Amino acid sequence: MNTSIFAHRGASHFAPENTMPAFELAINVGAEGIETDVQLTKDNIPVLIHDETLHRTTNGSGYVKDHTYNELKTLDAGSWFAPKYQGTSLVTLEEFLTWAQDQSIYINIELKNNIIDYSNIESIVYEYIKAFNLQSRVIISSFNPNSVKRFGKLTNEIETALLLSQRSRNALSYVKQVGASALHAKYSLLTKKLVEDCQDQDLSLRIYTVNRPSRIMRCYKLKCDGIFTDVPHSAIEYQELY
Ligand code: G3P
Repeated sequence: MNTSIFAHRGASHFAPENTMPAFELAINVGAEGIETDVQLTKDNIPVLIHDETLHRTTNGSGYVKDHTYNELKTLDAGSWFAPKYQGTSLVTLEEFLTWAQDQSIYINIELKNNIIDYSNIESIVYEYIKAFNLQSRVIISSFNPNSVKRFGKLTNEIETALLLSQRSRNALSYVKQVGASALHAKYSLLTKKLVEDCQDQDLSLRIYTVNRPSRIMRCYKLKCDGIFTDVPHSAIEYQELY
């Protein structure tokens, strides 16, 4: 089976991460999936933004959680990337799923609750996925094992994945303990043995964030189940060559 290519925060090398231009570009170049990050506003609206704070990717400041959605919706989430994206807005999960339901793509939603423990983020996000009937196309992931566990208790219709950035001898037992069926591991953790162990234990293995051609090719060679990349068009080109 081919390694699936997920556009990391959209095609984020070419357009501002987690915005509609980055998502649309990912689809246009033929990515099979889109990875995105969810945080909650003060009024519990899920919005797609990687950082807990606003300053890196918008013209706002402070924490996402300290602003209502009405306060955030006028922010510019594109100018920081390039002048031509001036006026690009933050995207809510609802807007994203409205758009995604008409695209044939997989969606990986990362619950960004490893730094801020947003209460109820799991059930809030789950309600949106159900409302759009996208259960079979969504993968929920988190660095927070408790969150993966909590999401798994809500439903067994949606795949869950534990994110891992540091080497651990017990990685796969953690994945099993939280009830996830996939490991999303940082590229530096990738070994042939990890791939084999995941296969033996019937776990999917997807690797982030893989941009260099040599690394992309290594993931293909080792038959990883998926990669997250900022450059989905290159990943697709290399897949055709492989
Ligand atoms: O979900 C894969 C990857 O996005 C995890 O790392 O830091 O981009 O959330 P990060």
